Amino acid sequence: MSAKSLTVTDNRTGKVYELPIEQGAIRAMDLRRIKVSEDDFGLMSYDPAFMNTASARSAITFIDGDRGILRYRGYPIEQLAERSTYLETAYLLLHGELPTVSQMDEWVYQITHHTWVHENLKKVMEGFHYDAHAMGMLVSMVSALSTFYPEAKDGTDGETRKLQIVRLIAKMPTLAAFAYRHNLGMPYAYPDNHLSYAGNFLNMLFKATEVKYEPHPTLERALEALFILHADHEQNCSTNAVRSVGSSRVDPYCAVASGVAALYGPLHGGANEAVVRMLQAIGSKDRVPQFIKQVEQGKAKLMGFGHRVYKNYDPRAKIIKRMADETFEVTRPNPLLPIALELERIALEDDYFVSRKLYPNVDFYSGLIYQAMGFPVEMFPVLFAIPRTAGWLAQWQEMIEDPEQKIARPRQIYVGAGEREYVPMGMR
Ligand code: ACO
Repeated sequence: MSAKSLTVTDNRTGKVYELPIEQGAIRAMDLRRIKVSEDDFGLMSYDPAFMNTASARSAITFIDGDRGILRYRGYPIEQLAERSTYLETAYLLLHGELPTVSQMDEWVYQITHHTWVHENLKKVMEGFHYDAHAMGMLVSMVSALSTFYPEAKDGTDGETRKLQIVRLIAKMPTLAAFAYRHNLGMPYAYPDNHLSYAGNFLNMLFKATEVKYEPHPTLERALEALFILHADHEQNCSTNAVRSVGSSRVDPYCAVASGVAALYGPLHGGANEAVVRMLQAIGSKDRVPQFIKQVEQGKAKLMGFGHRVYKNYDPRAKIIKRMADETFEVTRPNPLLPIALELERIALEDDYFVSRKLYPNVDFYSGLIYQAMGFPVEMFPVLFAIPRTAGWLAQWQEMIEDPEQKIARPRQIYVGAGEREYVPMGMR
């Protein structure tokens, strides 16, 4: 018997099975060998919400939640956030290696020269109410892109795939900025090819009457770093949506639109908004102990704390906390910051949080920065969707190229009625 295997006895039949263990996992399909009779379907595993099921082999992002480690393609997130740019990180996620100078030049050129969108997309945007949620608009606009690039349907051609990846990463900030300005009733600002990815995004958002918009370098860098921190996070809810929808071989615009839709949910991309609302409700530093008591009594949740994977300080939260000080030197200080700091100080010493390993996550401080930069809360998930596009596409590409992947199709355990006769309406 191999040391790298699991021996299972089926007590229904007394039969013994040996299941190979590879990279800390057994294959669910190996369970199908376990049958009570020849015509039995075979054993399945039941795992709602994928609590213990690996759906992919991935070489993109590594997380060790117990130790608070996050790496893209092996590079620690701390180093990337400090030294890389968003586009360089996107290249790394998609290609597996950091670019050389010429690869980077070509990549930046390509992205910069695909930022414009077809004028007809503005008409699509005009159909939305003035108060439409920016994320709702983004879902629709990304899927609308699909109709402008019918060649994207050919997922078999690597070059075609590459072009759609460039287009999506390039156009996402443009669509997001159009959504923002639509809400304000302002004319759309067109991309400026002389600015960086983050700088151009700030330009399309905030440009007013000035001939040339000059982003503040500290805010540009802060946004760039926030984009890097949000670029990928392995198999989360939205990435799983992109992989699953993409497995039907629909074009990447529709697959990414499904990721944006998943991110829209309050349990996923909406938590930083909830943090800001929570801090506003607490109102002042002296009311923090009272709030913590409510959390301990199960009457409230400390938003921005806790994570399914991190049972330690979320490494992204650590970086964002440091960045907050630099940002507030340029913007006005966010009056909610002292409340957040006091919450963190008390929570990290409090037995309720310590015993449950609840630490600040990425959303605890990011909302405060976004708010100080002038973003309304509805834009917070949009600011998450833009950078996550690189991660979604890297995961989509990996899925397409993985010979083990097929159309995603889970099994179910049927618990409904057995066969019964149709009853005419008058006799029910
Ligand atoms: N405040 C108070 N108690 C909490 C919190 C919190 N923020 N998070 C978890 N707990 C408690 C739970 O009540 C539970 O206590 P119990 O064992 O006494 O019942 C225990 O800690 C374990 O929590 P679970 O709910 O089992 O953890 P799970 O992994 O299912 O949930 C989640 C993780 C959803 C992130 C949760 O911690 C939470 O709701 N946090 C607040 C929302 C938030 O900040 N979300 C952003 C996550 S990061 C992201 O998506 C980008």
